[in-house]
Amino acid sequence: MNYQTILEEIQKEIQPYFKNGKVADYIPALAKVDPNQFAMSIQLFDGSQYNIGTVDNKFSIQSISKVFAFTLALNHYGKGLYKRVGHEPSGDPFNSLVQLEYENGIPRNPFINAGAIVTIDSLVSLHRKNSFEYILNFIKKVSNDDSITYDEEIFKSELNHGFRNFALINMIKSYNNIYNPIDDVIDAYFKQCSIMMTPCQLAKAMLFLANHGVNPLNNERIITNEKAKRINSVMLTCGHYDASGDFAYKVGLPGKSGVGGGIVAIVPQKMAICVYSPKLNAQSNSYIGTKALELFTTKTGLSIF
Ligand code: DON
Repeated sequence: MNYQTILEEIQKEIQPYFKNGKVADYIPALAKVDPNQFAMSIQLFDGSQYNIGTVDNKFSIQSISKVFAFTLALNHYGKGLYKRVGHEPSGDPFNSLVQLEYENGIPRNPFINAGAIVTIDSLVSLHRKNSFEYILNFIKKVSNDDSITYDEEIFKSELNHGFRNFALINMIKSYNNIYNPIDDVIDAYFKQCSIMMTPCQLAKAMLFLANHGVNPLNNERIITNEKAKRINSVMLTCGHYDASGDFAYKVGLPGKSGVGGGIVAIVPQKMAICVYSPKLNAQSNSYIGTKALELFTTKTGLSIF
């Protein structure tokens, strides 16, 4: 298959859609990006890469970071983690408070904000004030790149405008499902959201999930085969919030989005893909990113279905 040609076709075919969507602006520092960017990177098991667009520009990975934190927490706690956070789709927006009260402070899954906050709290119990470094070091390891870091301006902007996240963490704490000081947990959460990566780095970092938990580039086992399956399942069913069904319908791959405009997706036993374009659809997923991945699986037949 000629992936480079396919990427070029996709770039052409998405052009009419750039008028759609809107860059996230509820965090002022995120609103500053050029809305018309597009980049897509494919990483294969043999180390070959196919790229198009602004692939060397770093962007804020936002909720894509939740995949890494979930991987670490699941690795440590196993099924015990599910006493505190479920693995069902929520059908609600990523920052919704409503369900949390009905369900006694147990978030539906680790990819909505409430669930990501509980997941991070479980890591803070292990690593205290070094929890963010622990997550960042893991990301550096799986992407084999020591230069990755977070953006202080975006972090501060989240801290000053993350009113819903403060509401969520306080509500969960009232149900005794946050064990550590709120400030420590929220600090690690906002810092992980502010991590900056390129599409190439992100695609590489996801490869272990496409290969039963083993990084195919150096044969290092990151997690068990069974847990890799679980993470991919939760990405498929919950990775795009209340548009998870729509993403499965259109794209047909396990994937995870972030409000920064990135989406990662994995093709089991073949590759990892990252696409970036910052204008978002109504459910806060990259508009062009979803479209580009839909075109990719339609053209290549590489969906899981
Ligand atoms: O919690 C927040 O508001 C963000 N920093 C992360 C959210 C995110 O990426 C959700 N999106 N699609």
